[in-house]
Amino acid sequence: MHPNREQWQSRFSFIMAAVGSAVGLGNVWRFPYIAYESGGGAFLIPYFIALFTAGIPMLILEMGLGHRLQKGAPLVFGSIRKPLQWFGWWAAGLSAGIAIYYSTILSWSWVYLWHAMKLGWGKQAETFFVEQVLQRSAGPQEIGAPIGYLVMGMALTWFVIYLILRKGVRNVSKVVIVTVPLPLILLALLLVRGLTLPGAMDGIRYYLTPDFSKLTDPSIWLKAYGQIFFSLSLASGVMIGYGSYLGRKAEINNSALITGLANCGTSFFAGFVVFSMLGYLARVQGLPLPEVTQSGTGLAFVAFPTAITQLPALNGLFGVIFFITLLTLGIDSAFALQEAFTTGFYDKWHLSTEKLARYFVIAAFLLSLIFTTRGGFFWFDIVDKWICDFGLVVSGLGQCLIVGYLYRIRDFREYLNRISEIRIGVWWEWTLRYITPSVLLIILIGNLSREIRSGYSGYPQWSTLIGGWGVLLFWAVLATILWKIPAGGARSEDR
Ligand code: TRP
Repeated sequence: MHPNREQWQSRFSFIMAAVGSAVGLGNVWRFPYIAYESGGGAFLIPYFIALFTAGIPMLILEMGLGHRLQKGAPLVFGSIRKPLQWFGWWAAGLSAGIAIYYSTILSWSWVYLWHAMKLGWGKQAETFFVEQVLQRSAGPQEIGAPIGYLVMGMALTWFVIYLILRKGVRNVSKVVIVTVPLPLILLALLLVRGLTLPGAMDGIRYYLTPDFSKLTDPSIWLKAYGQIFFSLSLASGVMIGYGSYLGRKAEINNSALITGLANCGTSFFAGFVVFSMLGYLARVQGLPLPEVTQSGTGLAFVAFPTAITQLPALNGLFGVIFFITLLTLGIDSAFALQEAFTTGFYDKWHLSTEKLARYFVIAAFLLSLIFTTRGGFFWFDIVDKWICDFGLVVSGLGQCLIVGYLYRIRDFREYLNRISEIRIGVWWEWTLRYITPSVLLIILIGNLSREIRSGYSGYPQWSTLIGGWGVLLFWAVLATILWKIPAGGARSEDR
């Protein structure tokens, strides 16, 4: 074990950091849309069932493992069975992979923040996004050179991440006190603005009108599990890494419950912001709501800017508020992802936090330049799809099976109950041994068969072979190398 592993300032900082990594862009641009198309208010039923039968049990597992073994993901799995260290590196590598493309959204957000004061996207937000900001090429085959201001946005993003991480976890404790509540306050401002606009209630009706007939469709249930999984930042080693900084005395079960509820509450709340604005947008454009409803980048960089331009007053201010919201939502997810990977190096080779932050940021910045090119958008889309649909699902499946069958799970549960404020029953073992792995397996098979049947989004097959399977393979190879290099480094390192 590490001689003097760093620790959070307090339990509060730990929970804030965990919430910060969970609450991200997905809460704003994925959840509301999924809820809207999957039964509105009725979707809350599968969603909360997924939260309690997979989300929170997995959170407890990850935070608990990190805390109990006092290590990040690579060495945690390595101490369960030696060869599993490979798996740990692969999972943590996925998180580095996410960090590298996640930064792209932050780089766009900086660019938009710059344009927001003058509503630079004008009347044609879509054309502005595609043609002026991304200068998007015809497809992944046309890459082109990196675009100057996107590179600047990217550099700024990584520089901020470096500043936050170089002083380690104590510093993260201070940062999350700002980056977690700030986007919530800003969302609340946007909500007040949204709700007082004409058409807002129509939007919210679309968001929440329950359609119980959808609950008989199994794909809705899978969507609920998928969203819970993604939203709680599971299976990427982040929560293991964060748990490992808890020190010897800690509380797990209730902290996981609080994190899960805070995250899902934020998602639900963000839905009101999104749909009140979309309702207004539909009203002023005289279109039916489904036509203005989008998710993902289309929501953040096209629909929202359009709605902001149409506001009766203070448009520039609301533009600035919205993009600061995106930046503060994203930044704590981004550095959490990097931390999950670099903590493995800290455990294994005792490198200093500052050095790790510096080397990783430089390497990641260089790799992320691919996403600043004219074809970058397509590569971003492919890498995101594969890491989330295949990488994270396999990693989560592996985690459940390893802990459920190779790690004495009964002892583990008793240990957690001894140190925690609330007790978990034997149901916890069942969810991890049977329910969660079965659901993940079904999701995986579904994703695979869809990919085999119809490919992804019309991209040429070679591009998904490289950007999709290739990226997963890249991390697998790197994981092998990192696993094989013997541990070492000075014991009394210079932190
Ligand atoms: N939970 C984040 C969101 O909702 C996205 C995410 C998935 C993530 N896995 C992660 C963030 C791992 C940090 C770490 O936007």
